[in-house]
Amino acid sequence: MQMSEVSMDQAEGLRRVVTPKPMKIIAVSSGKGGVGKTNVSVNLAISMAKQGKEVLLLDADLGLANVDVQLGLNTSYDLSHVMNGERTLDEIIVEGPSNIKVIPASSGISRMANLTPVEQMGLINAFSELSHAVDVLIIDTGAGISDTVVNFCSASKDVIVVVYDEPASITDAYAFIKVMSRHHNVSRFHILANMAHDAHEGRELFMKLSKATDRFLDVVLSFIGSVPYDEKLRKAVQHQRAVVDAFPNSPSSLAFKRITKNINKWSESSSTSGQLKFFVERLINSDTTQEEA
Ligand SMILES: Nc1ncnc2c1ncn2[C@@H]1O[C@H](COP(=O)(O)OP(=O)(O)O)[C@@H](O)[C@H]1O
Ligand SMILES: [Mg+2]
Repeated sequence: MQMSEVSMDQAEGLRRVVTPKPMKIIAVSSGKGGVGKTNVSVNLAISMAKQGKEVLLLDADLGLANVDVQLGLNTSYDLSHVMNGERTLDEIIVEGPSNIKVIPASSGISRMANLTPVEQMGLINAFSELSHAVDVLIIDTGAGISDTVVNFCSASKDVIVVVYDEPASITDAYAFIKVMSRHHNVSRFHILANMAHDAHEGRELFMKLSKATDRFLDVVLSFIGSVPYDEKLRKAVQHQRAVVDAFPNSPSSLAFKRITKNINKWSESSSTSGQLKFFVERLINSDTTQEEA
């Protein structure tokens, strides 16, 4: 009995090593703050979970309206406690709606770049233990083009850039794409138009942005859809709920569902490159290379 349990464990462990589960790693960014990154991250995460995916949402934005605030979650510990060995990753993860798993934001996020070798190993090991249970990792990044934001985006397989129809949003999105492509070798971006008044406006916005990038940058933009301006979303935020959870039939919720279906069609990263362990390694190493350069 005990023997077979042991060999079951070994077989399971071996399977994980030999056939890693394909996984999506998606960073949500924007350049400008207040355009809806957190809402996009949270609502896409919950939509994917409702479709049966195991979703991990990493809050890498230290802004005011954090993921935990938006979802009314109680958090006592965060990544900084994992880094100093006080807690395991499992212990800091909180459950959100539809069983999404949330890693709360912390000042530890910006310290990612300067970890001691022991802390680095601790973090890499912590994430690799989670790998088997996750289909999608979504990262809500901060506004701006700080090293932290840039590192998270370049370590991810896919980057969603949230824009809305305002000159500052478009210029900041352009600046973000420019930095990512010129200095961080990222050349593909998924554009999501938020707070659009209709589908036409969303696509127009995408056209405007791609006209500029086509002219000056060597990048490929793809449009993943628009989310309408929706009072129900604001109401959900006031009640610390996600709109797809609180008002599943509202216009923005239906849009999030459509976009989730689009994302499902993206090819999943094959082999091991998409796994959490390698993601964390890329994240930690990206800064070392930058400093050396
Ligand atoms: N589609 C939308 N319709 C209406 N209001 C929105 C929409 N998206 C975002 N908002 C409003 O903008 C605010 C900021 O959104 P948030 O997701 O926190 O942005 P960010 O994370 O980019 O700073 C929200 O609290 C909400 O009031
Ligand atoms: Mg935010």
